[in-house]
Amino acid sequence: MATSYLLPCYVVITVLVLFFSVDVTEGAIREYQFDVQMTNVTRLCSSKSIVTVNGQFPGPTVFAREGDFVVIRVVNHVPYNMSIHWHGIRQLRSGWADGPAYITQCPIQSGQSYVYKFTITGQRGTLWWHAHISWLRATVYGAIVILPKPGVPYPFPAPYKEVPVIFGEWWTADTEAVISQALQTGGGPNVSDAFTINGLPGPLYNCSAKDTFKLKVKPGKTYMLRIINAALNDELFFSIAGHPLTVVDVDAVYIKPITLETIIITPGQTTNVLLTTKPSYPGATYYMLAAPYSTARPGTFDNTTVAGILEYEDPTSPPPHAAFNKNLPALKPTLPQINDTSFVANYTAKLRSLATAEYPAAVPQEVDRRFFFTVGLGTHPCAVNGTCQGPTNSSRFAASVNNVSFVLPTTALLQSHFAGKSKGVYSSNFPAAPLVPFNYTGTPPNNTNVANGTKLVVLPYGASVELVMQGTSILGAESHPLHLHGFNFFVVGQGFGNFDTAKDPAKYNLVDPVERNTVGVPAAGWVAIRFRADNPGVWFMHCHLEVHVSWGLKMAWLVLDGDRPNEKLLPPPSDLPRC
Ligand code: C2O
Repeated sequence: MATSYLLPCYVVITVLVLFFSVDVTEGAIREYQFDVQMTNVTRLCSSKSIVTVNGQFPGPTVFAREGDFVVIRVVNHVPYNMSIHWHGIRQLRSGWADGPAYITQCPIQSGQSYVYKFTITGQRGTLWWHAHISWLRATVYGAIVILPKPGVPYPFPAPYKEVPVIFGEWWTADTEAVISQALQTGGGPNVSDAFTINGLPGPLYNCSAKDTFKLKVKPGKTYMLRIINAALNDELFFSIAGHPLTVVDVDAVYIKPITLETIIITPGQTTNVLLTTKPSYPGATYYMLAAPYSTARPGTFDNTTVAGILEYEDPTSPPPHAAFNKNLPALKPTLPQINDTSFVANYTAKLRSLATAEYPAAVPQEVDRRFFFTVGLGTHPCAVNGTCQGPTNSSRFAASVNNVSFVLPTTALLQSHFAGKSKGVYSSNFPAAPLVPFNYTGTPPNNTNVANGTKLVVLPYGASVELVMQGTSILGAESHPLHLHGFNFFVVGQGFGNFDTAKDPAKYNLVDPVERNTVGVPAAGWVAIRFRADNPGVWFMHCHLEVHVSWGLKMAWLVLDGDRPNEKLLPPPSDLPRC
């Protein structure tokens, strides 16, 4: 009798085990080892020791397909605390692998390691990874290439070749010293010395012609550039002379293709663009240029331009005709003016989700929770009797969301939430709207001081959220690329001036708005986003200009577990770093 009861039970377990293993191994397992190490690098005729992954700069590309399980073992061999964020990866129920230091994990200390494990669900395109502690992402970054599932084509003609194009920002000085000095004086940090493409500054900078990114092409082919803006503090225009670009996706979500001469990309954003080469050998080379977009900004900034070169294989060279003629005329594109805000607004307004049966745009049509956040700069008073180098000599630069300048805890938020020990670590009363409304984009108030705090918004599982982010003109109206961890959101509206609750929602696009993880809050304007809180965990949201993160332009959402088993955060891995 006993066996006849046991048998069905055994069968059930077998079926469960099979089901579970099918679930896990539906895609492939992709394993990587990231050895974080110091490496000597020379740029602009000057050498320094930088933090790299596996000695590479930029770091190694992570390749995976949609549905794959990714396992990356990070070993910290440098004297800095380290953590790595997989920027844009949804991390469904795997928040422990998200990476922002003191948000989802304590940093990996020198000599320690941590294995990041996550499944890539419902995403294909380009994302990227970067250090998520202090300013170490200046040199610790790389591409994540997510191919469609096996046998699934792109919704556009397959390119002949795919090439990562990663923009970075280079300081001759040590970037950790740059930010720590700025935080000490209260002033703006020293600006970068160059921008880079795939780590190379290119011919427009001193003694850098040998460090130039060259895209070598054949005529009559289509290339897909997987573009990433990994710069610390600058949104960038990008254009290639004589070659329009067709944008086919942003932040690993397909869009309705648009063809333009120039694109704009904020730090944190990624985009795939198609480039079709001339039908026959053109007898010219073509510069590709990237230069900053910037409006009012306190202090100076790096207004230099990085160049790469598009070169055609010379058909008159001896077989296999793959040599390059160095003496051809070089054509240069014209980029928009540095402060061309209307270019930026027009560009972003053109981005639309594909919104097809295969790639639907699941825009929340109803809203459960509404939020209105101001984002912008502010001040902290200088220490009594001290002098600072902020906007005045008695103030220091700060930045805030709803006047709260976020202070990182000394332990990880997600750990304290999971352990039920949030007391003294964070509070759950992040303001849903400014406590003191003012004319956000008009003459700034006299008192620009902000408060410090470690406050979270708590959301029930599955809540449909609308968030309007309003830029302010305090210390200059500038664009802020806001990045949300753990979710994609839909950009349902944007505009200049103050958001108008009575008029603006009527103009929302709830049909095919672009879906992404980082959006520019327009200079002296607002943007409205919607997302469903279907991912339990603690999720960081911050400006992706690193200087603004340092000044406090960041906050976090806590999404609670749902009732069903598959709506709960999984327990932490046993090797989760300790503080
Ligand atoms: Cu790409 Cu929280 O960052």
